[in-house]
Amino acid sequence: MRYSEQSLPVGVVPGPVSALEADVLVVVAFEGEGAALAASFDDATDGRVAAAFESREFTGKPGTSFVTPCAAPGWRPARLMLVGAGSRSRFDMSQLRRTAATAALASRERRWRRVSFALPSVLALADEAQAAAEGLTLAAHYSGIYKSDEDARPIAIEGLIVVPEQAPADERASAERAAARGYILAACSNLARALANEPANVITPRTFAEIAVQVAAEAGLKADVLDEERLAGLNMGLLLGVARGSAERPRMVVLRYEPARPASRAVLGLVGKGVTFDTGGISIKPSEKMHLMKSDMSGGAAVLAAMKAIAALKPDVAVVGVVPLVENMPGGRAMRPGDVVRSAEGKTVEVLDTDAEGRLILADALWYARQLGATHLVDVATLTGAIGIALGRTTMGLFGTPDPWVALVGRTADRAGDRAWALPLFDDYREQLRSDIADLANIGGRPAGSITAAKFLQEFTGGLPWAHLDIAWTAWAEEAQPWQPKGPTGAAVRTLAELACTSAEWPPVPA
Ligand code: BES
Ligand code: MN
Ligand code: ZN
Repeated sequence: MRYSEQSLPVGVVPGPVSALEADVLVVVAFEGEGAALAASFDDATDGRVAAAFESREFTGKPGTSFVTPCAAPGWRPARLMLVGAGSRSRFDMSQLRRTAATAALASRERRWRRVSFALPSVLALADEAQAAAEGLTLAAHYSGIYKSDEDARPIAIEGLIVVPEQAPADERASAERAAARGYILAACSNLARALANEPANVITPRTFAEIAVQVAAEAGLKADVLDEERLAGLNMGLLLGVARGSAERPRMVVLRYEPARPASRAVLGLVGKGVTFDTGGISIKPSEKMHLMKSDMSGGAAVLAAMKAIAALKPDVAVVGVVPLVENMPGGRAMRPGDVVRSAEGKTVEVLDTDAEGRLILADALWYARQLGATHLVDVATLTGAIGIALGRTTMGLFGTPDPWVALVGRTADRAGDRAWALPLFDDYREQLRSDIADLANIGGRPAGSITAAKFLQEFTGGLPWAHLDIAWTAWAEEAQPWQPKGPTGAAVRTLAELACTSAEWPPVPA
């Protein structure tokens, strides 16, 4: 199985837009700005832009679009697409990314291959170029890969980003670099989506590790795969406990990026939950929607994909990625509720619910990331259903310590279009994890379920700067949006990769 690029790099060209050879020219339309758009495009479209705004067929609302042919002499694009971006004053990179994805998905649907996207020149040109490249590239993801009808496959669009013709050469060059960066980030988001989309009979701990080794080799990353024997040698009793019930044996993938000239002694440790299928184990889940638990390795996929992006972006800091991989199954050898297991670090855990398995494998993986020299930790996991009750389907849960590190991860997520919101980790919550017979219980009851899960992880972070992203409800879109089809979203990939590029802002490594 190969996971090669699913999309074409996005180019940058200067205007004027009328001279572009394109199946569709995409123009960003803000609410209440119909008159200005009509002034620019009514000659080319026989007055159809003014008419669309007048009849309110199109208003510029986000997620909407309007298409009309370009017929005037001297106009080379075949069509004009106005794509709604809401109000100009609230416009940002996230809105532009969605706008570009909306336009690209709508074009792909109609099989228009050459898509020229004109930057609106509202934000910094480089930021606009990056976000537009991300949106155009994100629209290349397709979930229906096991459908037999090849003709029904969507086309790969050729996206071009149009910068104003008066932009100076250095600005145009920086827009080109930013578009290349956006392409990398989004193509890697699409890799994570492709992995999360695969069924659990295709992606097992073993095959995930094989894919990781292949991705690492292509990207120039060092890779190491720990098998069950080595995991046992390291006494990873929590991970091995979860793995017991499955015929598929566990793995742990370790990927390393080393910069040519490191700017500091910091080592970013990225840890991603890799449960290739989560039945819940003996504490089995209800069967409704259980099939979606094939995506319970979305955090691990995000770490693998972010490592690939990091290898291409070449930040000046070392990064180690750790992905613990298991399948959580019931069975005659499975861990029972009430079993006590011992972590590699030595702490004992009473497993009161075998469905709280993510925190168990992450605990041993966080410890291992520290053994490998990580000085700053971020873990990503589809950890708790409770996070969706707290924050819904669009916002990741953010936890950690110290506050400046958590705040940096939050700002980075915002820029990356992932969106995260911090929840507290007050020590009082630790009480909920008390066990009668062991150091810790693996569940803390219904109240604050996402917080007690994070609190459990905190026990294994050795006091390092650490952030935890709970992507349980953001990794999978249960409903299609104009900018995001139903299915895997690639949550957290761009956040992790962008974070590796912010090392100047990190808390210092103690002497
Ligand atoms: N993988 C699930 C969390 C999840 C739920 C991901 C919904 C995506 C969508 C996790 O392993 C789990 O089962 N968590 C339990 C924890 C509970 C037993 C304390 C949950 O959320 O119910
Ligand atoms: Mn579970
Ligand atoms: Zn799980």
